[in-house]
Amino acid sequence: MSSLTNKQILLGVTGGIAAYKSADLVRRLQDAGASVQVVMTPAAQEFITPLTLQALSGNPVHTQLLDPEAEAGMGHIQLARWADLVLIAPASADFMARLTQGMGNDLLTSICLATAAPIALAPAMNQGMWRNQATQANLDLLIERKIHIFGPADGGQACGDIGPGRMLEPLQLVDATASLFATGSLAGKTLVITAGPTREAIDPVRYLSNHSSGKMGYALAEAAAEAGAKTILISGPTQLKTPPRVQRIDVTSAQQMFDASMAAADSCDVFIAAAAVADYRPAQVAPQKLKKGADESITLTLVKNPDIVASVAALPKRPFTVGFAAESENLLDYGRAKLVHKKLDLVIANNISDSRIGFNSDDNAVTVIDEHSNHELSQRSKQQLARELIALIARKVTAPTQ
Ligand code: C5P
Repeated sequence: MSSLTNKQILLGVTGGIAAYKSADLVRRLQDAGASVQVVMTPAAQEFITPLTLQALSGNPVHTQLLDPEAEAGMGHIQLARWADLVLIAPASADFMARLTQGMGNDLLTSICLATAAPIALAPAMNQGMWRNQATQANLDLLIERKIHIFGPADGGQACGDIGPGRMLEPLQLVDATASLFATGSLAGKTLVITAGPTREAIDPVRYLSNHSSGKMGYALAEAAAEAGAKTILISGPTQLKTPPRVQRIDVTSAQQMFDASMAAADSCDVFIAAAAVADYRPAQVAPQKLKKGADESITLTLVKNPDIVASVAALPKRPFTVGFAAESENLLDYGRAKLVHKKLDLVIANNISDSRIGFNSDDNAVTVIDEHSNHELSQRSKQQLARELIALIARKVTAPTQ
């Protein structure tokens, strides 16, 4: 279930070319389970008609501050009370200025003044307008007043300029909105999860890798985001889609995964190493494709890769650190040895000799090993398992310390 289920979002649309994206945003918010009422400023109606947004939202669009008909139904005070969140997308430079000044000269600014709900802005404007000192000063003040700011993105603009000021895409806005309502067991926590295989280059066309699908790590990332955590997924090459509200960093080799992990681990609360990292890499990467020669055998010299999870566990300000142990025998002994040697807080051990579970399958069964005990979770889908593991980790990281 999305954190937007049954949430009442008042979508304010102000004047800007990005207003055409608001039509899609209405739909995307509804797809995520929210009810949407739309308020448009007069300038917004120059870019998109109220009728379009009315048809998409299924509700009348509100445009007038002093509209006798509306006041009898949903006037600005009722709308201000109805909203669980006021989301303004696009928010123009002019709207930001009026909001900063506390003006109430149209329906949308009046609602912003009257509401007790949180307010979020998705600014959209020309890069020069965004960079202007006045806009930046308004932005600082709005942030100081705890108004949430989503974006803007950097890139090509409708006017032909390139720079900051593009409105975030509707799906990004839905994710940002959902994260405001995330109140799960890991709300306020940051999780970093490694997933998938690594590839260790031999030459420009060949590499050493393994059969990891990444499914377990991705399922954990999805469950962590569902539980309200800010979730960073450091992924080797996989065929999987990034779960909603998860920030994905793509890497190829173990060394790249190590670098990305060390950069992210410093400021996270939990680090879960679900990746199948290559223990060794070729000592040298041939600059050109290796040619077949007369030799019946050739030798490839391998050197050890850094152990990512052990390096994270050795950090002075270490996060709660979780490793996996994929074993084909002596599961519990080898798993516990890993807990001790790598100085982990938790090891999730699974038996890879069982073809029904593990690497490429959709199911898994694991034993969770901590300092004191072993806890078995029998075979179930990787999604179900991920939710239970995340719940278990959440209990450990949020338990009061004695
Ligand atoms: O030592 P072994 O590879 O069996 O340990 C598995 C655990 O260690 C997994 O959590 C894996 O993600 C992590 N690991 C790592 N860096 C490596 C090797 C393994 O983080 N170089």
